Amino acid sequence: MSASRGRFIAFEGGEGAGKSTQARLLAEALRARGLGVVVTREPGGTPGAEAIRNLLLAPPGEGWPPQAEALLFAAARADHVTHLIRPALARGDWVICDRFVDSSRAYQGGAGGLGDAAITALHAFGSDGLRPDRVILLEGDEAALAERLAARGAEIDAIEGRPAEYHRAVAAAFRGLAERDPAGFARIEAIGAPTDVHALILAEISDLLA
Ligand code: TYD
Repeated sequence: MSASRGRFIAFEGGEGAGKSTQARLLAEALRARGLGVVVTREPGGTPGAEAIRNLLLAPPGEGWPPQAEALLFAAARADHVTHLIRPALARGDWVICDRFVDSSRAYQGGAGGLGDAAITALHAFGSDGLRPDRVILLEGDEAALAERLAARGAEIDAIEGRPAEYHRAVAAAFRGLAERDPAGFARIEAIGAPTDVHALILAEISDLLA
């Protein structure tokens, strides 16, 4: 348990941007300062939300209609916020989350065409509109990110496997969200050595550590 108040940091960006690595490095740096840290991810983070994750990333039928997909992400998030994120923040821990509601805004709202108002309304209903203290948006050139993804060689899920045009629209939507909320988002150039990217991230959250 830490003396200072808990903070909520979300990592966002497209596939292959290195969010999980950076979430881990940030957690290590914060723990070294004596802070309590919980690292989690979306969709998932709790047993209920992980069950929904499986439904989303490997749909049992012919694929979710866009509205159902958005509802499932919001439902997973509501469980995660209630059972993990809010209790951790209430204890005074820092929460580092690999993706949060801005992924729904960029993927389902932007690239998926549902619009931002619908996603924001679902988040208000499901999670009382909880916002991170800072969103770290990891950005990079499309070709460089694709190369990283190929090198990772992980299995491709139902959303990752969508066409390049969809992923381009996701990146553009993230950019738009960050431009409209410069205090809430830190945009980080993610192509570089992980330790260099980590240093940029630490500098961007230094005000929250004070
Ligand atoms: P994940 O394994 O977290 O992907 P990555 O390693 O690229 O972060 O898989 C999550 C997938 O779900 C990813 O393609 C992004 C997508 N997603 C949404 O479409 N909406 C959301 O709200 C969230 C949280 C994820």
